[in-house]
Amino acid sequence: MLSKALQKALNEQINKEFYSSYLYLSMAAWAESRNLPGFAHWLKFQQQEENGHAMKLYNYVNERGGSVELGAIEQPPSDFKSPTTLFEEVLNHERFITASINKIYEKAVKENDYATQVKLHWFIDEQVEEEASASEILNTLKMAGEKGPALLMLDRQLARRGQQR
Ligand code: FEO
Repeated sequence: MLSKALQKALNEQINKEFYSSYLYLSMAAWAESRNLPGFAHWLKFQQQEENGHAMKLYNYVNERGGSVELGAIEQPPSDFKSPTTLFEEVLNHERFITASINKIYEKAVKENDYATQVKLHWFIDEQVEEEASASEILNTLKMAGEKGPALLMLDRQLARRGQQR
């Protein structure tokens, strides 16, 4: 059985994952409106991943005999100024999510809740990957710039997400 404190933290994390999904969908809409279909594809792919993260936690809370409580999802921003600003926000958001997962892990360690620790290992690994890919795209944008052929090439590269792995 999950403790009340861990159940609350996991429910809050479910909300953060759904907010992430909503944020990336809003970013995708921004990219579509700027004629960046590859960026939009990458962000919609990420949106699906975030739904998957939320559902993994949802299933876990249920499996442990806890109660899932869904809260309101905050409205995400809709203007991201430039592709570089957008990816800065992706990276900052992922860092925020990593910190949030780490806090829950700390709670699980304090409570000797081994099952939650093991479940969170997957999320800890996933966060390393998510921060690394956001950071790689951000570095490319900073190096190659946001205009003309460089942006077009990056857009084409991002359009292939899901096909390479
Ligand atoms: Fe679900 Fe992007 O962390």
